Amino acid sequence: MNSSTYEIIDSCEDIDFGEVSGLLKYYGLSDLDSDTQRQVFRNSYVTIFVKKKDELIGVGRAISDGISQGAIYNIAVKDEYRGKGIGKRIVDEILKRLSGCNVILYTHPKHIGLYEHWGFRRMSTSYARFPEEKHYEQEGFFTD
Ligand SMILES: CC(C)(COP(=O)(O)OP(=O)(O)OC[C@H]1O[C@@H](n2cnc3c(N)ncnc32)[C@H](O)[C@@H]1OP(=O)(O)O)[C@@H](O)C(=O)NCCC(=O)NCCS
Repeated sequence: MNSSTYEIIDSCEDIDFGEVSGLLKYYGLSDLDSDTQRQVFRNSYVTIFVKKKDELIGVGRAISDGISQGAIYNIAVKDEYRGKGIGKRIVDEILKRLSGCNVILYTHPKHIGLYEHWGFRRMSTSYARFPEEKHYEQEGFFTD
């Protein structure tokens, strides 16, 4: 998709968080409601929204200290706009704003190849603690 046909926005100001919440719920990335999602994005160091005219077609965010460490979450692109480089563009826009930081992410097991395709490397030393550990265990997030 020609990048002049969509707009990259990094501010939460004019974003409809109902759309953000809907998109992330639809793809199973987060089930938070729109007000909570607004808080989550406002509290993030980097937020990226992709809009085509008034339609939100992609989203992504990162938490960070802005200097040394960052973590990417909630990368999603609407079905009908996939395979056109928008997902990678969102990640690249985030990485640009985290320049100089070590950047980590975790993803669903089915997307591991995708992030390798986008230049990320698998780590052998990462650990996690999740309140809803059973769910992640069932989905195959843990190796132990
Ligand atoms: C993952 C997602 C964001 C990708 O968005 P997209 O706009 O289609 O991505 P892009 O077009 O930039 O890149 C797709 C590229 O990755 C490749 N790819 C896609 N899935 C892959 C996989 N599992 N393994 C390896 N490569 C993969 C494609 O072949 C394509 O390659 P190309 O650029 O060389 O042609 C999108 O599919 C999505 O929103 N999925 C649902 C939400 C989700 O699961 N997000 C990830 C969890 S954090």
